[in-house]
Amino acid sequence: MGAAVTSGAATFREQLDAATTTLEAAGVQTARVDAEWLLAGLLGIGRAGVRIDLSRVLSAPLAERYADAVRRRARREPLQRILGWEDFLGLRIRLTEAVLVPRPETEALVEWALTLLPPPGPRRLLALDLGTGSGCIACALAAGRSDLDVVALDVSLAAAAVARDNAHALDLAPRVRVVVADLLEGVRDLSADLIVSNPPYLPTGLVAGLEPEVRSHEPRIALDGGADGLALVRRLAAVGRTCLRRAGVLVVETAGGAQAAAAASLLRGAGFQSVAVRADLAGVDRFVAGNA
Ligand SMILES: C[S@@+](CC[C@H](N)C(=O)[O-])C[C@H]1O[C@@H](n2cnc3c(N)ncnc32)[C@H](O)[C@@H]1O
Repeated sequence: MGAAVTSGAATFREQLDAATTTLEAAGVQTARVDAEWLLAGLLGIGRAGVRIDLSRVLSAPLAERYADAVRRRARREPLQRILGWEDFLGLRIRLTEAVLVPRPETEALVEWALTLLPPPGPRRLLALDLGTGSGCIACALAAGRSDLDVVALDVSLAAAAVARDNAHALDLAPRVRVVVADLLEGVRDLSADLIVSNPPYLPTGLVAGLEPEVRSHEPRIALDGGADGLALVRRLAAVGRTCLRRAGVLVVETAGGAQAAAAASLLRGAGFQSVAVRADLAGVDRFVAGNA
């Protein structure tokens, strides 16, 4: 496998061309865009900034680092993981190998969840984010409502550390408390207005067939939702109401389609009222909410 140009005084254009060839050979569909992003990340600028003057020359130390970043991407490490961040509802979320790269559809989950909160009033509101990973949902909820406190839960110690770092970096730490817990263990005494979760929801049998970025580089615990993908939703439906105020809301992301319908049935079966399903931007039924 080739690598990006590293020796001599290579221009941005030469670097990008070489990187694009390397990434195409590795099967990366968005080779040119990724080559540009990797260079932009290294320079601390936006992607458009890279293209302003392609005759610029990359210094030797930066060229070495660029070659390293391209090699990582050629091994199909997710672009955002190499950059070290992803933007989520306007928040820069830092990432490590311990957490899932936040997905655009999850932004829609948060936007819907925010509309399901009670209007501002005399008391502070409380939300739980189950399976917080990078903390993207918890931080976006807190950023979206200043009268909201969030408890962000994850069973992974390493993921919880990332979520905590993100809450600090975004100045949201006073309102986003990160707790290591299996499901809702340890927070049963809380009485929340909202529980949000983007749980691991892929059926176990599908994980091996995923693209390499996901299968080989995302934490398995963030993906594998058991035989039908609904293991965590099933558990959450069973105990979620005990952590919700009267008329509090549970809202979850699913793999979409039939799984969303199955999750809706689980919520109804567990006693949730007014269960509703909402489509993502692609028109696929993906999000499910119910009132306690
Ligand atoms: C699909 S990821 C979602 C991460 C993040 N909320 C997002 O939307 O990008 C699911 C997360 O659930 C966590 N998780 C898996 N099983 C769990 C459990 N039993 N209790 C709490 N968290 C769990 C994983 O560690 C992972 O961080």
